[in-house]
Amino acid sequence: MREDSSVSRRRYVQLAGGVGVLALAGCTEDEDPDEIDTGNGADDADDTGDSDSEGDLEIVHWWTAGGEEQALNALLDGFEEAYPEHSVENNPAPGGAGAAIDAAIQTRVIDQDPPSTFQIWPGEAVRPYLEADALESIDDVWEDEDAYVDGVIDAAAPDGDLVVAPINIHRLNNLFYNVDVVEDAGIDPTDAENPEDLLDLLEAADDAGYVGLAQQTQEPWGILQFWEMVFLGQYGADTYEQFLAGDAESLESEIADSLELVERISEFHNEDAGTVAWDEANADVITGDAAFHHNGDWAAGEYQGADGFEYGENWEYIPFPGTEGIYTMVMDGFVYPANNPTPEATEAFVSYCTTADAQERFNPHKGSIPPRTDVETDGFPPFLQDQMADFEASDEQTVTISHGSGLEPARADQVQEAFAVFTDNWDVDETTQELIGIF
Ligand code: GAL
Repeated sequence: MREDSSVSRRRYVQLAGGVGVLALAGCTEDEDPDEIDTGNGADDADDTGDSDSEGDLEIVHWWTAGGEEQALNALLDGFEEAYPEHSVENNPAPGGAGAAIDAAIQTRVIDQDPPSTFQIWPGEAVRPYLEADALESIDDVWEDEDAYVDGVIDAAAPDGDLVVAPINIHRLNNLFYNVDVVEDAGIDPTDAENPEDLLDLLEAADDAGYVGLAQQTQEPWGILQFWEMVFLGQYGADTYEQFLAGDAESLESEIADSLELVERISEFHNEDAGTVAWDEANADVITGDAAFHHNGDWAAGEYQGADGFEYGENWEYIPFPGTEGIYTMVMDGFVYPANNPTPEATEAFVSYCTTADAQERFNPHKGSIPPRTDVETDGFPPFLQDQMADFEASDEQTVTISHGSGLEPARADQVQEAFAVFTDNWDVDETTQELIGIF
C-alpha cells in the first residue's frame, strides 16, 4: 500500500462539542489534495497489487430499515457480481438520518483507522472531512460526469474535487397517507393547499378515531424536518434560503408562527412518538392505525416492501401542503477515506456506485430516483415514475438542514439541539430565540 503522507501532515486533532464536530488540521497550502492510488503510479512502490491481501471492503452506513436494507443488499450484490475478487464486510451504524454514524466515523478517522468507505450526504456535511484532509479525490474513478442531473456534481465536489459518489436522490417534501383511512374519515388530502390546512385534515382523522400524523420525536431530526417543510410551505423557498443564509433575526415572526403550527400539530401524533424510530411510526400508516406520515420517500420504500399495500390503492402521497413545484433533495453517497485499509476494493466500490447498473439496482428498493439520467428506469415502481416526473417538472430544488445539505455540520448540530429541546418542552418562544441565536 502507498505510504499516506496525509497522516504525518496533521498537526493536531480535536473533537469539539457534545455531538462531535470533526476538526483536524488540514494540509499546508502548497500541498495537493491526495489522489486515489491507482495501483500503477510511480508512488506505488509499496503496493503489492494483491487485492487478496487487503481484506474485505468494510462499509459503514445506517440503512437497517426494511426497504433501505434491501436497497443496500441489491447494491452490494451488484458490486460483488461486477468485482468478484472483492468481498464486503457490512458494518451498519443504525440510527435514522445518520443519528449514530458521525460519532463512530469521526473517532475512527481521528485514530487513523477509517473503514474502507462510509455513507455521507453530498454537500455541506462533507466539509469537516475535507478540512481534516480525511477524504481522497475520486475524480479518476468517476464514470461519466456528464450523465448526472444538475446540482449533483456540485454537491459531490464541494471544493472542486469529486469526493462523494452519490447513489440516489430522495424527495423530502412528501405527505403520505393511507387511502382507506382518509376515505373513512371523509378527508380529501388534495384539499390541503398550505400547512395550516393540514391541521383540518388531522382533526378530521382524529375525530374518526385514527392517529392523525404518525411521527417519531425520539430523534430531533424528525421534528426538524417537519418544521423545515412547514416553514417552506408557509413562506416559500426564498425565505427559507434567507434563513439558511443566516438572516434568522429578521424572520422572527415567521419562525415563531411556523413553530406554533408544528406545536399544534403535535397534538395529533401517535402516543408513542417519543419512543419509536421513523420506520415504526410509518408502520402505523401501513396497519391503518394512522392517516398521514410526513417523511422523505425512504418511507415509500417501506410501503413497497409491505405485502398487499399498493400504491394508488392502499397508499398515496401529495407534496407537503404548500410545497408543490418544489423538490427538496436528499442525496446519499459513499467516500474514499484517506488512510484507506483496502485501496483497491474501495476504489472499485466507489467507482461502481457511479455506474448506471448500481443506481438501477439500488433506487427501486430505496424509494429514491437515480442521479444519473441514463439509468434504465422502465422497471421502477409507479410511485418512482411519478417522483421522476415531479422532479423533471419541479420549479425549484431545495436543500435541507436535517439531512446535511443546507448548513455546515457545526451549525446543523446546534439546530438539531434546539429541536431536541423543542420536542421536549414545545416552547415556541424559547425555540425561536434559540434558532435566532445560532446565527
Ligand atoms: C436520510 C438518508 C436517507 C434515509 C433517511 C432515514 O438522512 O439520506 O437515505 O436513510 O435518512 O434514515
